[in-house]
Amino acid sequence: MRIVSGIQPTGNLHLGNYLGAIRNWVRMQDEFTAQGHECLYFLADLHAISMPHVPADLAANTREMVAALVACGIDPERSILFNQAQVPAHAELQWLLSGTARMGWLNRMTQWKDKAGKNREGASIALFTYPVLQAADVLLYQATHVPVGEDQKQHLELARDIAQKFNNDFASDAEPVFTLPEPIIPPEAARIMSLRDGAAKMSKSDPSDMSRIDLTDGANTIMTKIKKAKTDPEPLPSEKAGLTGRPEAANLVSIYGAMAGMSVDAVLSEFGGKGFGTFKPALGELLIDRLAPINTRFIELRQDQAALDAILRKGAAMARALAIPTLEKTYRALGLVRD
Ligand code: TRP
Repeated sequence: MRIVSGIQPTGNLHLGNYLGAIRNWVRMQDEFTAQGHECLYFLADLHAISMPHVPADLAANTREMVAALVACGIDPERSILFNQAQVPAHAELQWLLSGTARMGWLNRMTQWKDKAGKNREGASIALFTYPVLQAADVLLYQATHVPVGEDQKQHLELARDIAQKFNNDFASDAEPVFTLPEPIIPPEAARIMSLRDGAAKMSKSDPSDMSRIDLTDGANTIMTKIKKAKTDPEPLPSEKAGLTGRPEAANLVSIYGAMAGMSVDAVLSEFGGKGFGTFKPALGELLIDRLAPINTRFIELRQDQAALDAILRKGAAMARALAIPTLEKTYRALGLVRD
């Protein structure tokens, strides 16, 4: 078994990233490395250039994201933590897979349709071929399991389609070149919503700071944001069905559950009938308690650029070594001479 996943080095990590993806990475690391399996986690900096970006910000965000991941519990001694840009095999394999991926498959990707919008002619080629690079990211290491959010399921299916077609076209059944990766989508807390709008995902691009809890937020900020979170005037229901049509209430309850390791029903059996005047301070305290250690480590680590670069350097060297066999097999399967 091998676990591989990536995250784009956007700015600050927030609660949605933590509960949706990172915490699951940490759990998988703890469980699988103890059994002798490898976990590879990387910053998808090559993906980040598919949209307009500021080079200095990309570099800063990449390092900041390493600090955040380590603060959240990714241990560079147990997991292989690196950035794509230091492992050229990702870009190489993407090109090698480009002969197999079909235009029609990429045209159906919802992320492409959403991000390109009406302006397809003006979108970058990288935005269109983004899923092929993502396929290369996982196929390169023969990943068996890929922890991702619900929104990345389609890209993982594409990776499987590419792997299958490549194996079909260029390898024998007895000796396939690529392993078909399984997506692992955490059932709970996969979608944390904005604190200002229960219909919008918590996002770093939301102009309102009050819409999200950032991992840089201290105790006072966390409590203020939770107390000011949008809600309705009703008390909490004692059963899940009572949250229908109350997206803001549902979001706060699911954040509580995810943080406390409780089901929504368990949270409601504790807080059902109580108003937000009781529930919000309890949620704020819980978040402060769980996020404070992460916050402290993050603030400390992000100042030490040399240490962050050393983590990436070491992870990249290990990733480069692991990538060689599959990359070589792929070149040869295609009839490309490597001597
Ligand atoms: N596209 C993913 C996202 O936006 C990030 C990513 C890049 C990824 N390569 C990957 C995730 C490979 C899983 C596996 O969340």
